[in-house]
Amino acid sequence: MEKKLVGVIFCMLLITAAIVPVTGNLDLGSTDEGRNPGDTTRDWITLPEPLPVDMLLERSISRRMSFHNGYPATPVTDEELSTVLWAAYGTTTTGARTVYCPNGTYSTTMYVIRSDATYIYVPTNHSLLLWKTGNYLDLGQNTGAPIKFGLVWNMSIAPDEKAGMAEIGMIAQNVYFDANALDLATITTGMSVNDLYELDLPANEKPEIIMHLGHPPTPYDFTYNPLPESNLPTVVNNTLTLADVVNTRQIVNEWNTTELTLLEESQILWCSYGTSYLYDNINHKRHRTLPSAIDIYPFKIYAANQSGVYKYTPATHSISLIVSGDKRELIENAVGHDNISVSSSPWIIVPFWDKNVGSQTYLAWWWYESGAIVHNVLLEAAALNLGGNVLSVITDQNGLRSALGLSGQTNLVAMHLAMVGHANGSAQNNPPLAPSISGPSTGLAGVQYNFTMVTTDPDGDHVYYWVDWDDGTNSGWVGPFPSGVVVSFNHTWSQPGTYTIKVKAKDTYGAESIWTPFEITIAGPGLDIEITGGLGITVTINNTGTIDATNISWEIVFEGGFVIPAQKTGTIPIIPMGEQSKIQMVVLGLGKKTITVSVTANDGIAAEKTASGFLVLFFVIGVK
Ligand SMILES: Cc1cc2nc3c(=O)[nH]c(=O)nc-3n(C[C@H](O)[C@H](O)[C@H](O)COP(=O)(O)O)c2cc1C
Repeated sequence: MEKKLVGVIFCMLLITAAIVPVTGNLDLGSTDEGRNPGDTTRDWITLPEPLPVDMLLERSISRRMSFHNGYPATPVTDEELSTVLWAAYGTTTTGARTVYCPNGTYSTTMYVIRSDATYIYVPTNHSLLLWKTGNYLDLGQNTGAPIKFGLVWNMSIAPDEKAGMAEIGMIAQNVYFDANALDLATITTGMSVNDLYELDLPANEKPEIIMHLGHPPTPYDFTYNPLPESNLPTVVNNTLTLADVVNTRQIVNEWNTTELTLLEESQILWCSYGTSYLYDNINHKRHRTLPSAIDIYPFKIYAANQSGVYKYTPATHSISLIVSGDKRELIENAVGHDNISVSSSPWIIVPFWDKNVGSQTYLAWWWYESGAIVHNVLLEAAALNLGGNVLSVITDQNGLRSALGLSGQTNLVAMHLAMVGHANGSAQNNPPLAPSISGPSTGLAGVQYNFTMVTTDPDGDHVYYWVDWDDGTNSGWVGPFPSGVVVSFNHTWSQPGTYTIKVKAKDTYGAESIWTPFEITIAGPGLDIEITGGLGITVTINNTGTIDATNISWEIVFEGGFVIPAQKTGTIPIIPMGEQSKIQMVVLGLGKKTITVSVTANDGIAAEKTASGFLVLFFVIGVK
């Protein structure tokens, strides 16, 4: 009996060992390098293919709602988890990301907390990387959800918290949309996020949001009950799903003169901040197209086209004219638009945070909400087969308010601006950002050094790298690699000197970044050879380098007929830095000879010199 019990316990231990790959914490370092999918030293779970989700985008948006508690213990399957994670932050079929970060930084780390362990979602190979074993599901609000997502801002990747938070708002939208399409439940929670520090987050990561994923305590129960037609048409479904729109999204910098139809304008406004066409019979309300912290909804949505500026009222799905006339040029002047032609967009959406409604205390949550608004606009633009773009730099808030006829309303602050319309020509492709490079700044000649390079592409395209080593050699184009993945290169310099390495990147469409320079000083012996004649020949080896030359082997070869000896070799133990060593050799022969001297030192530093001289018996005359 006892033996049987021991056997059972032993078997259980074996099974546990098979399920839990590693015990204890893994130190992944404080940067993204530890999340490189090429890393085979850590434990990975490859996620199954995401499930096909056939719910139309507008229906998923209309079913978006939060479940605050009471999640049953029913597990979420790996397929469901894979589907939600891909929608949240995965890589699209074009190599872009499922959310569009205006400055291309993609600074969110998604911790996936399960009962067995906590993992990091790695989009580049759609897998989970083990972060910490143990059950941390008690972190954050107690909903009972079997999975939680710790959405964490990596401040080394995007130093601006607004950018990080807006991106999290975008990610969360896609979690809501696919969760409800799979009949799963979710919620964004901002309270108790500091609990996530218990996961031993790296110092450069700040917890922002916890999302919960599980099954609804009671099934979704909606009645179709759209808002009646106002001065805007009622909301309709298009024909694309969330996966369709993220895979086909067009980010454009310029729009043609085609105006949008009223239905298109209406759909975009609805998506940005409207109310569902479904009535929720459990909570007795219509949900909005995005969640809002403490149910406050402090944003006011304004929109401009060629004929004027309008305010959107979500409760009635209607617009009212604020000021007539084309104000798009003035709007463009008030924002940091780089190469984006804001004024050519036929429908500019400006969400304003109203400081009088949403307290400054929760500023980070309003950044989230602004990100969610512009994300929805980009999704619906894609569903309408329109091209969109988003700006996150508003340089002149007063100028923007005055352009929109809102000068007195200093309580309104814009965090983003979204543009929609028909793309002018083909969609604009942005080049990758200038790559960053890290590696040693000093080294020795003849020794191989490792350098890592990384860039991100604003469109999420895959990238190639080209490294110029400044010694007459280069890597050529190497790649493609997924945007944001750290790539490593090795190089050996054979001569001492200061070299400016340069790296640039290009995306799969051929758009190139600017160069990033990086300086390295290589120390080494410098082997300078002089050949002089006289009685025999004298070879002088000067060490012009920055360290002593050691273990020097030399060879002198005479060519061109009869010479004795025709060749001579030898070694010199050391030529100190700045000093020289002479080799003298008496030879016997007649006529024009070629003299080749080859020298190597310090296990690999080489030099060679060839001269020709006239040999008369033992004398070498006129060497040159
Ligand atoms: C940034 C943010 C933080 C939130 N924090 C919490 C929270 O800590 N706890 C909670 O129960 N709900 C939280 N919510 C959910 C909102 O209360 C919820 O979205 C809102 O009441 C609207 O309900 P609905 O999403 O069901 O339409 C948060 C929502 C957002 C956007």
